[in-house]
Amino acid sequence: MVKIKKAVFPVAGLGSRFLPATKAQPKEMLPIVDKPLIQYAVEEAVAAGITEMIFITGRNKRAIEDHFDKAYELETELEAAGKKQLLEIVQNVIPKHISCIYIRQSAPLGLGHAVLCARPVVGEEPFAVMLADDFMDAGDGVRPVLAQMTEVYLREQCSVLAVQDVPRAQTGQYGIVSASAYQPGLELVSGIVEKPAPGLAPSTLAVVGRYVLSNRIFNYLEHLGSGAGGEIQLTDGIAALMQAERVLAYRYAGQRYDCGSKLGYLKTMTAIGLKHPETGAAYREFLRQVHIELGTA
Ligand code: UTP
Repeated sequence: MVKIKKAVFPVAGLGSRFLPATKAQPKEMLPIVDKPLIQYAVEEAVAAGITEMIFITGRNKRAIEDHFDKAYELETELEAAGKKQLLEIVQNVIPKHISCIYIRQSAPLGLGHAVLCARPVVGEEPFAVMLADDFMDAGDGVRPVLAQMTEVYLREQCSVLAVQDVPRAQTGQYGIVSASAYQPGLELVSGIVEKPAPGLAPSTLAVVGRYVLSNRIFNYLEHLGSGAGGEIQLTDGIAALMQAERVLAYRYAGQRYDCGSKLGYLKTMTAIGLKHPETGAAYREFLRQVHIELGTA
């Protein structure tokens, strides 16, 4: 039985909704309290048993490479200053048995193109795709979302897309699937369309940033022209794959936060800030105060 060992992280987008914060760094380096989005996603991958992280980087690739690399100067200074705890945090950003591979996407031609760039490294295996700006909080005591999906993959041996219901007014922001009941929590995908207008959407079941894909997707991606928004769309590759193989939509357990938007980012910071062992209690008090002030305004 083939296990999922490789995850692709497309991090070459322009991140234009976060300018100027993303002028010199990818949006995936934006922090939620004290960790960048990409580190949360990598931790989710590690929890799913992934051992090879493949980053598809763009013009500002340095920050991500540096983040997962050794930081000799910083480590030496922390050691000299006797800051043991911080040193440990810096040294344990990523477990030792994990390898990181960086591939440059020459131009941001779209998510489908970014995934295609991983082909030489992924080879013949099934693989995961993770969009770090979709922050997934499975909740306490629940398996992280990618681990839930690789479990489905192991059982069903086919591509699995994470999906959630969205308000009809928002279908234009997502890939939307048509699907029929398959098993509890799982649907069989019969169609998928990128960013349909609310009136044209076949359903309100939206694909979010976690995928487990059969490597056959590459055969379709390489022949795709530009789709919605003039970009080479992963959605169009999945639409073609679906004609040849089973593709399942999985209603994951957990809460997704859209960190690609400013409001979603603020909400994530609040949700995680409230749970954080260092900030939780004081932040709760602060929000209580804000709530009182808003109530009397
Ligand atoms: P988005 O649609 O969120 O686009 O990409 P974006 O450029 O990052 O952000 P905005 O809309 O300009 O604010 C979804 C994911 O696909 C990656 C992005 O980094 C993000 O993780 N992506 C997108 C690429 O790696 N390459 C591309 O050509 C396009």
